[in-house]
Amino acid sequence: MEYRQLGRSGLRVSTITLGTMGFGGTGWASAVGQIDVEGARKQINLARDAGVNLIDTADVYSSGASEEIVGQALGSDREDVLIATKVRMPMGDGPNDAGLSRHHIIRAAEASLRRLGTDYIDLYQVHEWDGQTPLEETLSALDSLVQSGKVRYIGASNYAAWHLIKALWTSDRNGLQRFVSQQIYYSLQAREAENELVPVSIDQGLGILVWSPIAGGLLSGKYRRGVDAPAGSRHLSDWSEPPVHDEDKLYNTIETLVEIGSARGVSAAQVALAYTIGKAAVTSVIVGARTEDQLADNLASAELDLSVEEVAQLDAVSAQPLQYPYWHQANTSSDRLSPADLSLLGPHLG
Ligand SMILES: NC(=O)c1ccc[n+]([C@@H]2O[C@H](COP(=O)([O-])OP(=O)(O)OC[C@H]3O[C@@H](n4cnc5c(N)ncnc54)[C@H](OP(=O)(O)O)[C@@H]3O)[C@@H](O)[C@H]2O)c1
Repeated sequence: MEYRQLGRSGLRVSTITLGTMGFGGTGWASAVGQIDVEGARKQINLARDAGVNLIDTADVYSSGASEEIVGQALGSDREDVLIATKVRMPMGDGPNDAGLSRHHIIRAAEASLRRLGTDYIDLYQVHEWDGQTPLEETLSALDSLVQSGKVRYIGASNYAAWHLIKALWTSDRNGLQRFVSQQIYYSLQAREAENELVPVSIDQGLGILVWSPIAGGLLSGKYRRGVDAPAGSRHLSDWSEPPVHDEDKLYNTIETLVEIGSARGVSAAQVALAYTIGKAAVTSVIVGARTEDQLADNLASAELDLSVEEVAQLDAVSAQPLQYPYWHQANTSSDRLSPADLSLLGPHLG
């Protein structure tokens, strides 16, 4: 297992992170999995044996049950792993039970600590943008959690690039803790993150933690043209993420994954994960697994090195058209592009 520095922080995290959205599995999360404490212990042990040192959860997963299960499954081993959790989504029906106000953040952090059975959170992430709370308020609340020792690092998730820049600028201007990472959706199924989110990470030194790196199972090789995926698979339910805008491209991408995987004697899921682990600014991919076999399969991707030709094949089949202003920049600014710009435009320059 390789360990990478999380953004510009001093923290080293494994290139695979264990996702826990299926721990508990109530409400909307029931489509993801119903893993109890014993199942969670097995997944955590498998992951740790492979070298995983980061576990990702959120207060909202099964209304707190995922955090409780992580805490119980880890028990006295808590010190041996890093725990990332999140705040922002509704945790009740009250007007202050959601969002990124100081009121909600402090209360939610205390509640997460209780459920996790720990006195510190390694990485506390804002789960989504809150356009109605001043960033000064959000970041000073997060900063006070770091100063008090309850949180060690802070990160964002699902922000637009301008949200990130505004937040980093607010931190710098006010001497507050800076986000060290962003947690985003980025996979071979949809590479929109390469337009803005990857370049901003390169430019600002933010680590990238990738959620749903095999698109919730779509890239595992079990969804293929004309083939029925096994009963119980997540995308046979009414699960709606990620949206698929180009089904034909998705199936072509899956066929390429299956082809490369067959030639290498590994699963399509492993190829998809290895591809994303190899992308610029990516620190770690957060894998989810309904079963231990799936987890074992996914963990093996940490040891899979794709060749330049295999990556080029996957780049080509999943390519997205350059949108404005990027096509114009590719045509007219190639004399003055930064490494962040080139991460998107490089392949389009003559
Ligand atoms: N920040 C955010 O907003 C956000 C959003 C979503 C997720 N997350 C985080 O990201 C984590 C991972 O998300 P995810 O579960 O959607 O990730 P994923 O790894 O893309 O998908 C996992 C699902 O794919 C299927 N699968 C996994 N491995 C497989 C294999 N080897 N072969 C065949 N099928 C396989 C399983 O579903 P089936 O068995 O049902 O097919 C499994 O539940 C979550 O646990 C959470 O920590 C964060």
